[in-house]
Amino acid sequence: MQGWRVPPPKEPVKSKETLKWERERKVRWLARRGYLKSERIKIAMLKVPREDFMPRSYRDYAYLEVPFPLPGEQASISCPHSYPLFYEPLGLDEGQRFLEVGLGSGYGTALAREIVGKEGLVVSIEIDPLTFDYAKKNLEVAGYHDIVLVKGDGGLGYPEFSPYDRICITAACAEIPPPLLEQLKVGGRLIAPVIERGVQYLMLHEKREKGFTREVFCEVLYVSLRGKYGRSGKPAL
Ligand SMILES: C[S@@+](CC[C@H](N)C(=O)[O-])C[C@H]1O[C@@H](n2cnc3c(N)ncnc32)[C@H](O)[C@@H]1O
Repeated sequence: MQGWRVPPPKEPVKSKETLKWERERKVRWLARRGYLKSERIKIAMLKVPREDFMPRSYRDYAYLEVPFPLPGEQASISCPHSYPLFYEPLGLDEGQRFLEVGLGSGYGTALAREIVGKEGLVVSIEIDPLTFDYAKKNLEVAGYHDIVLVKGDGGLGYPEFSPYDRICITAACAEIPPPLLEQLKVGGRLIAPVIERGVQYLMLHEKREKGFTREVFCEVLYVSLRGKYGRSGKPAL
């Protein structure tokens, strides 16, 4: 994996209690560092055990600031700080209709499900069939049966449940796929890593009656978007 040193895979030995303690410590660290601000996101991060979304041989490393490889071609579970990094500026909150492009491990999806609550809706799309199956199983085992999981090209969005209040793209794109901008509500927000002159920037887009506003946050490093709007030109599933 580019940019990080992934520790060697090993048999997990940490107890649930140890991992819970590490999770609480991580949440305090994220709040101290200014990543985590909203109470709902904090509660979700305390509730969802990240270790349950990690591949078994990396389970004990669940609270390290390292992305780990997942089954599939280019998938990874992002660093713990990535979730508040995306969800705080997005203003993800109770009752919203949320679309995620890039399901990965399902961890970010589970957090979103907790944040939007019963009145909200979570739809997540994954292009890689192996990654999709891995995340689906993780979410089922964790007891999340009310998330709409879609196997396919997230660049095309999922018009069936549009318009969305919030959209999050977890893979880097050269342009925001136009169908996603179309499927966003007026007043809605979309966040994504966008590549400009070879550098990825986390960018927030807000849809107005006429056009969009754009805010640039920081440099990031994500796997590339695949499918119709990806650079690789790989055909959509
Ligand atoms: C950084 S990972 C997502 C990590 C995820 N948030 C997690 O918590 O594990 C990015 C994911 O986007 C997926 N992806 C890439 N292009 C896609 C596309 N066009 N549609 C849907 N998923 C895509 C990759 O296969 C990968 O699983």
